[in-house]
Amino acid sequence: QTIYLKDYSVPEYLIHEVDLNFDLGEEHTVVVARLTLQRNPQSQSPNQELTLMGEDLNLLGVELDGTALHAQQYVQTDTSLTIHQAPQDGIFVLKIENSINPKANTAFEGLYQSSTMLCTQCEAEGFRKITYFLDRPDVMSRFKTTLVADKDKYPVLLSNGNKVEQGELAGNRHWVSWEDPFAKPCYLFALVAGQLECIEDRFVTMSGREISLQIYVEAHDVDKCDHAMQSLKNAMRWDEEVYGREYDLDLYMIVAVGHFNMGAMENKGLNIFNTKFVLARPDTATDSDYEHIEGVIGHEYFHNWSGNRVTCRDWFQLSLKEGFTVFRDQQFSGDRASKAVKRIEDVNMLRARQFAEDAGPLAHPIRPEAYIEINNFYTLTVYEKGAEVVRMLHTLLGGEGFRKGCDLYFQRHDGQAVTCDDFVSAMEDANGRDLTQFRRWYSQAGTPQLNVEQHYDAESGQLELTLRQHCPDTPGQTDKPPLHIPVKIGLLNSRGQVELIKLDGRPPVEETVLELTEAEQSFALSGLAEQPTVSWLRGFSAPVIVKMQRSLEELAFLLSYDSDTFNRWEASQQLAGQVIADLIADIQQGRELTLNPVIVEAYTKLLEQQWDDLSYFSLLLALPDESYLASQMDVIDVDAIHQAREFVKKSLAERLQAHFLRLYRENHREESGQFDAGAIGRRRIKNTCLHYLSTLETGDSQSLSLRQFEGAANMTDQMASLSAIVNSRHPAKQACLEQFYRQWQDEDLVIDKWFALQASSHWPGTFAKVQQLLQHSAFDMKNPNRVRSLVGAFSQANPVHFHARDGSGYHFLADQVIALDKLNPQVASRMVTALTQWRRYDDERQQLMKAVLQRIIDTEAISTDVFETASKSLA
Ligand code: ARG
Ligand code: ZN
Repeated sequence: QTIYLKDYSVPEYLIHEVDLNFDLGEEHTVVVARLTLQRNPQSQSPNQELTLMGEDLNLLGVELDGTALHAQQYVQTDTSLTIHQAPQDGIFVLKIENSINPKANTAFEGLYQSSTMLCTQCEAEGFRKITYFLDRPDVMSRFKTTLVADKDKYPVLLSNGNKVEQGELAGNRHWVSWEDPFAKPCYLFALVAGQLECIEDRFVTMSGREISLQIYVEAHDVDKCDHAMQSLKNAMRWDEEVYGREYDLDLYMIVAVGHFNMGAMENKGLNIFNTKFVLARPDTATDSDYEHIEGVIGHEYFHNWSGNRVTCRDWFQLSLKEGFTVFRDQQFSGDRASKAVKRIEDVNMLRARQFAEDAGPLAHPIRPEAYIEINNFYTLTVYEKGAEVVRMLHTLLGGEGFRKGCDLYFQRHDGQAVTCDDFVSAMEDANGRDLTQFRRWYSQAGTPQLNVEQHYDAESGQLELTLRQHCPDTPGQTDKPPLHIPVKIGLLNSRGQVELIKLDGRPPVEETVLELTEAEQSFALSGLAEQPTVSWLRGFSAPVIVKMQRSLEELAFLLSYDSDTFNRWEASQQLAGQVIADLIADIQQGRELTLNPVIVEAYTKLLEQQWDDLSYFSLLLALPDESYLASQMDVIDVDAIHQAREFVKKSLAERLQAHFLRLYRENHREESGQFDAGAIGRRRIKNTCLHYLSTLETGDSQSLSLRQFEGAANMTDQMASLSAIVNSRHPAKQACLEQFYRQWQDEDLVIDKWFALQASSHWPGTFAKVQQLLQHSAFDMKNPNRVRSLVGAFSQANPVHFHARDGSGYHFLADQVIALDKLNPQVASRMVTALTQWRRYDDERQQLMKAVLQRIIDTEAISTDVFETASKSLA
């Protein structure tokens, strides 16, 4: 059953207050909800019935204004409870009693069990699995929650807001009451009960209020919370400084749970996190883990304003809070560490994965128009492209104008549930600008292509830039009108220096934003004594594909001189990309392979320079990944891509061995992994060198990896060396894997890494290994992190083996999806997306992938989640 944006209407009833009472038990929890309701004066509907949503609930009784309703006064279905004669005037109280079974809830939506604790996940539509309710984000209520439970099993009882009362009961039981003063949609409700330890800190806000900060984890993880706490304090300060936003409750709690479908959840005052984004100690977490933790802690914290204080009217508006909040967390991470590195990582991910989504059968606008299962729309498009759209507003309005727009948005809509349009309107009104055309970014799917041309006239000293835009057709959308695209450019003269831009008689500038609004448009730059090189789309100022031919020499020039850190890296990627593309053609035509010397020269130049930002330096030395290379091909040839890329890696290692070894030695320390930019940079460049050197498979390179593995005092170095060992011929491979397992068997998150590393190895025999790992005692289909680390890593990060010609990888995935779907449809549906791009492969593989998609669809009792993803993929 499809839901459409165009069918939106306001709720027929409002729920002002919610008083919840939970009698908690792992297999039997009783919920009593007292709802204070009122007919919505805004609703035009003549309907006199009140229909509440509810799923998997066992109804025990209903009372209206203190009188029990008898069976003729209401009707229940699998998904709803309808009260026939609901009061039409004034306030009324509905009391509903029902029971649920948290332990049987393996879908992890609603109230469920994770190890020994009970916790909730309500976004998007999980609250209806707790009690009957108007489970839609435009119904906002004040919540009061009382939790009652056994004192030994559940000593800690948490919910949103402030703790207001607690007490003891007979039979070793106790209770705690919580009250959240802010009205909120039910998707932001949360409760947690369990044997949890807490680490505490405090934060003084800009107006001088003292906030208590608490992170709750299982006892054996208390020594892994410091970084998360520091990240939280950093995020709170940053949002005050950059957006002027202050925290609003007296208490901020984060709980880490081992079973979680996604990354984390911004429940008001009580964030619930996947342990992966909280727990870190230098010996258990890599530098990237540390960075992701800071990013996600920031993300959920920033939601307190962009999501909670101002929320979404309906789920089609999801990007209103997610796109904006991702943009905010990207800015935060960029400010914390290296702006250049953060931007490159974000764009790299966007291009490798979101562009593929936008070009495939599941393409949808950042504000979708229809869905069957909303959980399927927590996508790269809604999140990452959504963030790019907000970033373009920032680019078009400038930092100050953007801030003015945000201030107006928060002031105008505080306490409301609003739309993406309201967000753009605030930007318009605060800046006196018309963004009518810009709004098309919200409704139009697909990645626009930009053709750029330049024509230089030596006599007049004029450079004419001509830009053409075109957006390819996507499911349900053809012949799209032009978008409003900010194209940031700079100029370089032949010596590699900045050339000033003179446009339309304005004062000369080093950099400018061309606003492309037509299908084709020209811009004339004047006063140029010689033909400059144009640095296009600086900082990746719009989520588009730039189509232009550049010679390898021109790319090498930009790699040496472009002052824009993003475009400099982009030149390195394109240079390597072209070299690899030529080798792919050689492989396909059976020619002998030789390495183009241009890339050796370019790398030599890089290696001979002094670098301050070693993380950035190591990105310049990283070859484009296989998924990006795949996106550049008409028909993806996984084997040729892999072979060509490995060939370049190994050839570079051979030619530049001395450089790599020197850099390795200069930066190698057996240090415990403290989290600071200098140390991270050292580890990054060193491990990049190790990665190249390990392709040599000489006795020296093998002992280098082994020595690092054995001496490693931090997880970054340990993982990097184990990865080098697993992905090459190495006599100690099996022994190292076993040693690693023995060392870390009690740390779930590290064991996830152990699974993922083996599942994504390109080494022969990986598929058999993956099948064995599925039988390993530590594999658990009921744990989403474990499933992602084995099934997810194999199908999404191992192109050569997943796309094996005989279809074995596809069948394996289908088997796992079908098994998982019975437990957890949301995660199963994610796994299906590894098959979505089937049209991009050769005929044989297409047939094989289509066949397994069909097998999934034909499976009896398949969930709507998986059905939607699989059937739309096939359509
Ligand atoms: N709002 C959360 C975040 O991005 C994600 C929750 C997604 N949950 C889901 N069931 N789809 O911070
Ligand atoms: Zn979010």
